[in-house]
Amino acid sequence: MKEDRQLAKYLAHLGYGSRKEMEIAIRRGRVTGFGDDLRFDGEKLDPAPGMVILLNKPAGFTCSRADQGRLIYELLPPRFLKRDPALSTVGRLDAETTGLLLLTDDGKLLHRLISPKSNTPKTYDATLARPLEGHEADIFASGTLMLRGEDKPLLPAQLDVTGERTARLTITEGRYHQIRRMFAAAGNHVEALHRATFGPLTLGDLPEGEWRLLTSDEVATLP
Ligand code: URA
Repeated sequence: MKEDRQLAKYLAHLGYGSRKEMEIAIRRGRVTGFGDDLRFDGEKLDPAPGMVILLNKPAGFTCSRADQGRLIYELLPPRFLKRDPALSTVGRLDAETTGLLLLTDDGKLLHRLISPKSNTPKTYDATLARPLEGHEADIFASGTLMLRGEDKPLLPAQLDVTGERTARLTITEGRYHQIRRMFAAAGNHVEALHRATFGPLTLGDLPEGEWRLLTSDEVATLP
């Protein structure tokens, strides 16, 4: 039947299996329910395309679909890697950086959020190897700080000192290893880095290594 073929195609796009496998699964009655309450083996179907995931990234996981070592996709259901349209990270965090990471399969949203024009504020908590000297906030706020190997100065960034060797830094760009390179430019070294916010979003009480879907209201607050 035509509807079954369409459903099989839809399930295949969600990563449940090949179209052929899904046609067989439907014939065997593994797909039940209607409309918003479709179920596969009794479990509610994964979200339709257009989803945004908020992940509390642990250290030691790489933001890549295929790389050596542990990948952030291991923290999600395995079929999420087979979705079409593909689920991508919104920018990247270094393997050793922890905290708030978004993933989406919405290409337009992805490009809007990672565009240099988006100017989305992102807040990072940094633990440093050496005590702060007091001049760092001015350097970062200047709008003239040039990172090694680059020809355009960084936009002004706000530094709030939270301890002798800890600080919260808010940036609106997303250059390669930006925070680590900023502190290196100020003569220090980042020992640990955690992203606490992305635009209006925070991690709330989401435990490390866990993820949740953003609600449509939360997605609407994104820049
Ligand atoms: N800046 C860094 O240096 N690393 C990150 O993971 C994010 C921002």
